[in-house]
Amino acid sequence: MAQIELDGITKRYDDLEAVSGLSTTVKDGELLCLLGPSGCGKSTTLRMIGGLEMPTEGTIKLDDEDITDVPPYNRDTSIVFQNWELFPHKSVRENVAFGLKMRDVDADERHETAEELLERVEMGGYGSYDPTDLSGGQKQRVALARSLAVDPSVLLLDEPLSNLDKRLREQMEIHLKQIHEEFDKTFIYVTHNQDEAFTLADRIGIMNDGQLVQVGDPMDVYQNPTNRFTEEFLGDTNFIEGKVSDSSDQPVVKTGFGASIPLSKNAGVDSGDTIDLSLRPEFLALSSPDDQQSTVTTDGGHAVTGTVEDVLYQGSTIRYSVSVSGEPLFVERHVGDRLELSTGDTVQLQWDTDDVLLFREDGTKLDV
Ligand SMILES: Nc1ncnc2c1ncn2[C@@H]1O[C@H](COP(=O)(O)OP(=O)(O)OP(=O)(O)O)[C@@H](O)[C@H]1O
Ligand SMILES: [Mg+2]
Repeated sequence: MAQIELDGITKRYDDLEAVSGLSTTVKDGELLCLLGPSGCGKSTTLRMIGGLEMPTEGTIKLDDEDITDVPPYNRDTSIVFQNWELFPHKSVRENVAFGLKMRDVDADERHETAEELLERVEMGGYGSYDPTDLSGGQKQRVALARSLAVDPSVLLLDEPLSNLDKRLREQMEIHLKQIHEEFDKTFIYVTHNQDEAFTLADRIGIMNDGQLVQVGDPMDVYQNPTNRFTEEFLGDTNFIEGKVSDSSDQPVVKTGFGASIPLSKNAGVDSGDTIDLSLRPEFLALSSPDDQQSTVTTDGGHAVTGTVEDVLYQGSTIRYSVSVSGEPLFVERHVGDRLELSTGDTVQLQWDTDDVLLFREDGTKLDV
């Protein structure tokens, strides 16, 4: 068992609150990604779990044992950092064996363990190398082996792949996922890269401004954000301001360009409230106004006419910026689509009410 329980942990540096009353449970054996923008408190949270920082408030438990005051070398945790930090004057083997040497494991045994781990991270045969002769990806494998050598229950990884180029990073993500499965340990992995989090995580914890704003399965967090921050952070979207009006017997949210979304009677909103609509580019259908096959739904205002303002090629997708009553909306299409549009073309945009998410002014999601 290696379950981590964070209860109201806060870290203050003078006037700055880096982490604010964060509570969550990291389950035994899972890979939890802490994902959020720069400065939101990810590393501080990880460092508190590893004992490198003391929380100003709150407690940290490992399997029901309070470890808040336990020094890092007595915790059953190990950290892998972004910048590798291998000892330059020791061989790869000695680097990996270092933690075991500190624990007085005899030389033969620790070198045997080191060689075994190097095999498992696909670095067999590199034991006698000098770390300075390794590539970035190889160094990171050695750093991983070094952290695993002391057999921690919880491995903490702070943006370990962010210094690698895209292709190598993607290979290492797959390798790390395999290592996680093989070693059957609890991993807490910090990143600000959504793709990395989606590839690796069993669950993702979204952080913003020192707080954990949502935790869940990757697809669930993506499809069912509970707040505007998560919706915005996890992918590009179009936010459009709307106002509640309930002139009829049912409240609706209306946008400036006439789109309207019906709300349930008990949605808890008042006439005049500002509600933002989120329309993801992938949920907007584009058609040419003279396209005979396009059926335009005018009920509920889910179809609007706009003008193509900008065309951006992004490899396999084309991104159009379409101006609708002066409001720019981004729409994505796959390259090779029948419809090819140029700047200045008039187009129709359609969407399903089901694909629209609504957020109150305070950022919380409004259930329709
Ligand atoms: N030792 C420190 N002293 C003072 N302020 C600190 C210290 N460590 C972190 N901070 C501040 O706390 C906040 C959170 O920092 P943290 O390093 O946890 O962010 P992060 O989410 O890991 O960001 P990044 O993605 O850039 O690594 C930042 O505003 C940072 O400047
Ligand atoms: Mg950080």
